[in-house]
Amino acid sequence: MVQIIDGKLISAQIKDELKQEVVALKEKGIFPGLAVVLVGDNSASQVYVRNKKTACEYVGIKSFSYELPEETSEEALLELIDTLNQDEKVHGILVQLPLPKHIDENKVILAIAPSKDVDGFHPQNVGALCTGLPGFISCTPAGVIELLKRSQVEIAGKNCVVVGRSNIVGKPVSLLLLQEHGTVTICHSKTKNLTEILKQADIVVAAVGRAKMIQGSQLKEGAVVIDVGINRDENGKLCGDVDFTSCESIASRITPVPGGVGPMTIAMLMHNCVLAAKNK
Ligand code: GUN
Repeated sequence: MVQIIDGKLISAQIKDELKQEVVALKEKGIFPGLAVVLVGDNSASQVYVRNKKTACEYVGIKSFSYELPEETSEEALLELIDTLNQDEKVHGILVQLPLPKHIDENKVILAIAPSKDVDGFHPQNVGALCTGLPGFISCTPAGVIELLKRSQVEIAGKNCVVVGRSNIVGKPVSLLLLQEHGTVTICHSKTKNLTEILKQADIVVAAVGRAKMIQGSQLKEGAVVIDVGINRDENGKLCGDVDFTSCESIASRITPVPGGVGPMTIAMLMHNCVLAAKNK
């Protein structure tokens, strides 16, 4: 029988643990604060930002909200980041991506102080992850590892296949699996023998952004499947990069979409905010 990995339940446990930590921090006079910056009116981003602010409230982190119009200039956004970098009440800064086309995302990421980069997108934090130094680990990859660990999935020595090579998920999750002593293969749109590689995988992390791309017939019996995708299927219903129906009869454990990795991203953001406040 396949075990469904319940990201909603695990993320709720993490947020409850963090809530306790925040109580202890407040007793020491540390009041964690997160600045949440949204530029424009992307409806998906609005939902993500609302969920992040709700999580802050639950955990006891003060959120400072900046909802800026679409036409905000790059210069004005960089000025706001500079102000937030210097604000002692702000321990973490989150600029929701994607940004409007006239703003250079890389410039914005570079402008955030690495010590407040709770998204873990700044090259200093990415470099720290590469070399095993302390730093912020981006939230979705950290959430994937946490889901595996809290579901008692052993990573050491296992064949881990990551499908996708994005800076936000594919690359960092591969590094984290390697750090946990997995044998890691990264596949992408130009990979020729994807099925052959997937057939060897004990752990599959799907992060390509293509609805139901991975089929049960491509998996090894008993594989653990973590689906990072958030897509709409032909009927407009939310679905992952994994075809859940065909994979659940082959996998030993699998994450659903929604309710798998998604809630973990927010829980790990809360974790990073608490860490930023503790580091102060
Ligand atoms: N857009 C999609 N995912 C993310 C994320 O994890 N952080 C930010 N800042 N923007 C995103």
